[in-house]
Amino acid sequence: MPYSAPYSLYSQLVRKVLFSLGGGDPEIAHHRTIGALRALGARPGPVAALRALLAVPAPRTVFGLRFPNPVGLAAGMDKDGVALPGWAALGFGHVEVGTVTWHPQPGNPLPRLYRLPASEALINRMGFNNAGARALAQRLRTGPTPSMPVGISIGKSKVTPVAEAVEDYRSSLRALYPYGDYFAVNVSSPNTPGLRGLQDRALLDDLLGELTTEARALAYGGRPKPVLVKIAPDLDDAAIGEVIEVCAARSVAGVIATNTTLSRDGLAERDVATGAQAGGLSGRPLARRAREVVAFVHRESAGTLPVIGVGGIAEPSDGLRLLDAGASLVQVYTGFVYAGPALVRGISRAARAAGAASGDR
Ligand SMILES: Cc1cc2nc3c(=O)[nH]c(=O)nc-3n(C[C@H](O)[C@H](O)[C@H](O)COP(=O)(O)O)c2cc1C
Repeated sequence: MPYSAPYSLYSQLVRKVLFSLGGGDPEIAHHRTIGALRALGARPGPVAALRALLAVPAPRTVFGLRFPNPVGLAAGMDKDGVALPGWAALGFGHVEVGTVTWHPQPGNPLPRLYRLPASEALINRMGFNNAGARALAQRLRTGPTPSMPVGISIGKSKVTPVAEAVEDYRSSLRALYPYGDYFAVNVSSPNTPGLRGLQDRALLDDLLGELTTEARALAYGGRPKPVLVKIAPDLDDAAIGEVIEVCAARSVAGVIATNTTLSRDGLAERDVATGAQAGGLSGRPLARRAREVVAFVHRESAGTLPVIGVGGIAEPSDGLRLLDAGASLVQVYTGFVYAGPALVRGISRAARAAGAASGDR
């Protein structure tokens, strides 16, 4: 059963309504949710009132940024950054917008998003549908100042060959640099052909070296904004060890672990309509592997590399376990779809009660 806070309006009503929209089409529910939060976000009064009510203060400083609480919205939910005040109203401590690409692109053909309710999971093969880095820069430039840190996830455009990936990422970083608090280099989505290959040591070293150099240049002698890398849960220990070495060599500020998985372990739905769909699996079945990867990065880097833990947080205790495993911050996506804003509050409360074990970094 999905986690639900006592008397949660979300689990009693909102989720039922959302899940039935468009004949149960998950992408329609997604667009309606984003649309509603966008409309809410245009009203500063209600946003401030809701945030005062829903945001649980549990502040911490990570890679030089002050976060009001450790719970962020994971990349992919608000790819074009259209609802930032809406997310703030729901109590999030940060939002990672994107993944955006240099070239606007429609993503993969529909359908491309599947609910697997018995497993509290999703399978998606969205393929970075987004309006492009320049459109996001324009929106963030003219939008209201966010009340929490905003990360920007950048990825490779589908039309750009892997051999030209560095320039593609660099163009996005340049366009967006003034508007993000940190940047996430996404090399781990399973839905862009060749993308995960950028996690290989030599390619990753080149990519992250160029992007951290670019960030230093864009900082004009000041402190460069943090550049992080988001990794797949399907890497083995040796490969993750190499990523950690590259991060240390290239002044990468942290690791986001993890993206969706190609594994179908722990899934109740195995039929063709759902579990056998191509794409990345997220949600409860991912929790254990995400925790292993977070713990591994924390241990192997001797705690020097801050980790944002993401994957399978379905209830507050899952978030706490990721923080205990060494994450400095956590993010939610699928758990939020099933449990709603109570999950965000629940994790922040649990982290505050636990005395914020992993503390400031
Ligand atoms: C529909 C969907 C779209 C996603 N899009 C992105 C994306 O654009 N960039 C990215 O880095 N991760 C993306 N993710 C991965 C999430 O950010 C997160 O890493 C993953 O879902 C695991 O967390 P969860 O179990 O809480 O969902 C997406 C996930 C879903 C379900």
